[in-house]
Amino acid sequence: MSISSSAERTLVLIKPDAVRRGLVGEILGRFERKGLTVEAMVLRGMDAELADQHYVEHVDKDFYPPLKSFMTGGPLVALVLSGDQVIEVVRGLIGSTDGRRAVAGTIRGDLSMSNRENLVHASDSVDSAKREIALWFPELG
Ligand code: PPS
Repeated sequence: MSISSSAERTLVLIKPDAVRRGLVGEILGRFERKGLTVEAMVLRGMDAELADQHYVEHVDKDFYPPLKSFMTGGPLVALVLSGDQVIEVVRGLIGSTDGRRAVAGTIRGDLSMSNRENLVHASDSVDSAKREIALWFPELG
């Protein structure tokens, strides 16, 4: 099924802490109930090379080594969601980076107490979404 021309796409990672805690269904359900469309989805690992590519903006930051170790430490679920203004909508559903400060009602605000083990990654701009989707799902073009 093709998506409408007005629909935007975003790359979402349901992170290893969410898989380990059995929260994939809970998180995916929130996106589905919101009315977003799952275009592609896979359970897989993130190796060191993919981590460096995915987090290219952060590789020189102090927090990158523990972030990389966490993200390569277990399976995650990568997916592409589509919908009207989906990038902004998904960022809103996820909440701010630090689960301790994220607003109640958001995924992180309800389910995370960490700025590293914060359950979900989502693209933060149209350019990031294009780059990240090409990295994780090259077949989507
Ligand atoms: S920045 O510098 O404002 O752009 O960074 P931010 O958007 O807050 O976070 C970018 C990603 O880094 C993760 N992060 C951390 N990981 C480990 N340790 C610490 N202290 C830490 N702080 C931030 C954060 O979860 C973001 O991951 P993604 O996958 O992009 O959500």
